[in-house]
Amino acid sequence: MNILITGVAGFIGFHTSLLFLKKKNIVFGIDDVNSYYDVKLKKDRLSQLKKFPNFTFFKKKIEDMNLINLFSNKSIDLIINLAAQAGVRHSLKNPYSYINSNVLGQVNLLELAKKLKIKKYIYASSSSVYGGNKVMPFSPKQRVDNPISLYAASKKSSELVAECYSHLFDIQCIGLRFFTVYGPWGRPDMATFIFTKNIIEKKKIDVFNFGDMRRDFTYIDDIVNGIFGAVKLKKDFNHKIYNLGNSNPEILKDFIKLIEENLKIKAKKKLVKIQPGDVPKTFADILESKKDLKFNPKTKIEVGIPKFIKWYKEYYNIQ
Ligand SMILES: NC(=O)c1ccc[n+]([C@@H]2O[C@H](COP(=O)([O-])OP(=O)(O)OC[C@H]3O[C@@H](n4cnc5c(N)ncnc54)[C@H](O)[C@@H]3O)[C@@H](O)[C@H]2O)c1
Repeated sequence: MNILITGVAGFIGFHTSLLFLKKKNIVFGIDDVNSYYDVKLKKDRLSQLKKFPNFTFFKKKIEDMNLINLFSNKSIDLIINLAAQAGVRHSLKNPYSYINSNVLGQVNLLELAKKLKIKKYIYASSSSVYGGNKVMPFSPKQRVDNPISLYAASKKSSELVAECYSHLFDIQCIGLRFFTVYGPWGRPDMATFIFTKNIIEKKKIDVFNFGDMRRDFTYIDDIVNGIFGAVKLKKDFNHKIYNLGNSNPEILKDFIKLIEENLKIKAKKKLVKIQPGDVPKTFADILESKKDLKFNPKTKIEVGIPKFIKWYKEYYNIQ
């Protein structure tokens, strides 16, 4: 297959590209390599991908209207849109990048799919769309009309855009709501990374909601297997949304304890209240993802955390 993957310099886009490159697909990768977090990490991920002869990289914004010209002479079977402005807290101060990347970018890529007659479009959504929903586990059947951050609102909007294009232009769309993904090459703005870094550097860590948070931490390899399941899925529908989460929420305090044990360093914890835009608990209902995508998250944090810490120490050359 010839696959267009966006966000390839990012955490999930990088791992997804690796899988499809190893399986000998042609991958066209897009990323604007922006400075939301450490650009070196993004460039180092890209260097890994550029080792593959079947990978071509385009440094572009997904909302760039010239994409359509750029790809007009290429044969593409499938688009996987993993580029986004991520992060709940950042969206409080930088609203426009969320609309440009997550909404306009989604429209632009679906326009590309329409023009090039690409029949399948897979995109990343987020557990954030469940907002303050109280019914657990979160199911894709629930209404999600109460986002509590602009990030969540932009992701919900991107789902609505996909719904519309799938009906109007016969593009099969699959939305994947990821739940707190972690693992090697992970994002520096996320808890696993921040805790590990600060504990090693003997700095304080903020423990939100006074430690009473639960997150459905999901290991990157399980997520990539779920994406692979979506690529393989042969089912007749216009648009469908699936949860990709571990379906086993962990208590934040236990998660931190595991990192401390693995590092053999005690954390300096500062208990603080929950941040605006954050939700106290996430928990994925994955019945349909198991059935349709053969999604089977099997990595417990006891296995995933040591793997992340091993990568972190190697990458940052820490003894
Ligand atoms: N990591 C998680 O826990 C998580 C959870 C829920 C949803 N998601 C979603 O999964 C997807 C991938 O997330 P990630 O964790 O890999 O994030 P990431 O920030 O590591 O990767 C996103 C990549 O997209 C690129 N990008 C951003 N805006 C762009 C634009 N307008 N044009 C081109 N490139 C652009 C960035 O440079 C980055 O390399 C995103 O849609 C994100 O919202 C991630």
